[in-house]
Amino acid sequence: MNRLAGLLNTSIGQKLVLAGSGLALIGFLLVHMLGNLTIFQGREVMNGYAHWLQGHPLLWLARGGLIGVFLIHTTLALRLAWANHRSRPIQYSHSRQNQETTILSRYIALTGLLVLAFVVYHLLHFTLGSVQPEHSRLVDANGLHDVYGMVVRSFEVPAVAVSYIVAMVVLGFHLFHGVRSLFQTFGLFHETYDGTIRTAGWVVVGLIVAGNASIPISVWLGLITV
Ligand code: HEM
Repeated sequence: MNRLAGLLNTSIGQKLVLAGSGLALIGFLLVHMLGNLTIFQGREVMNGYAHWLQGHPLLWLARGGLIGVFLIHTTLALRLAWANHRSRPIQYSHSRQNQETTILSRYIALTGLLVLAFVVYHLLHFTLGSVQPEHSRLVDANGLHDVYGMVVRSFEVPAVAVSYIVAMVVLGFHLFHGVRSLFQTFGLFHETYDGTIRTAGWVVVGLIVAGNASIPISVWLGLITV
């Protein structure tokens, strides 16, 4: 226990926890994106899925875990970014890897803050119904919360659709750099494997970004309608 606490006080221990929590959040994003894609199967399937999720006995356990992982990830990221910023004059080096690491962590910190802002907006929008409240109280023919109608009507407003598409691009940058940094932290970063790492990162990130962005784009194109 003492050794674990000791490890968490070191910069590498914190980086490992940051990378591990980032990996768990990517897992959530993949599952959430797959759930969102039920919109292409129509109102009944999407609302049925949302209803099943909302009534699941383990919902609050999963939510608690998600909030915990999210808080650990953001707190450690901010702490490490601050520590990096303070020790910058000493850390500056002309080695290629150090320069790359500095640029990488700056990108991750900036895009991370933007993703955080998006998550707050998104929760106010679809979970708490404070943004566009007129769409959050809809009920379908089966008496279920009309999540399908809420999402489609929301994305019919061009500014909302554009804000989600932009947010997905920013999320894509964050995840892409995050995945590279994650490989670095786990010691898998190497000149020889760099191509493979980039490809693997792009595939996972591409799926999450394209899957989610396809929803506002399809509403916009009239492929999904109320
Ligand atoms: C176009 C993309 C997205 C769509 C259409 C979408 C849709 C939704 C909807 C409809 C809900 C509420 C579900 C319900 O109350 O039944 C929700 C909840 C949520 N979304 Fe998204 N989402 C998108 C992208 C994202 C992204 C990129 C993130 C994270 C960075 C995210 C994080 C969350 C979280 C944390 C919740 C709350 C889950 C809960 O209530 O337990 N979403 N989303």
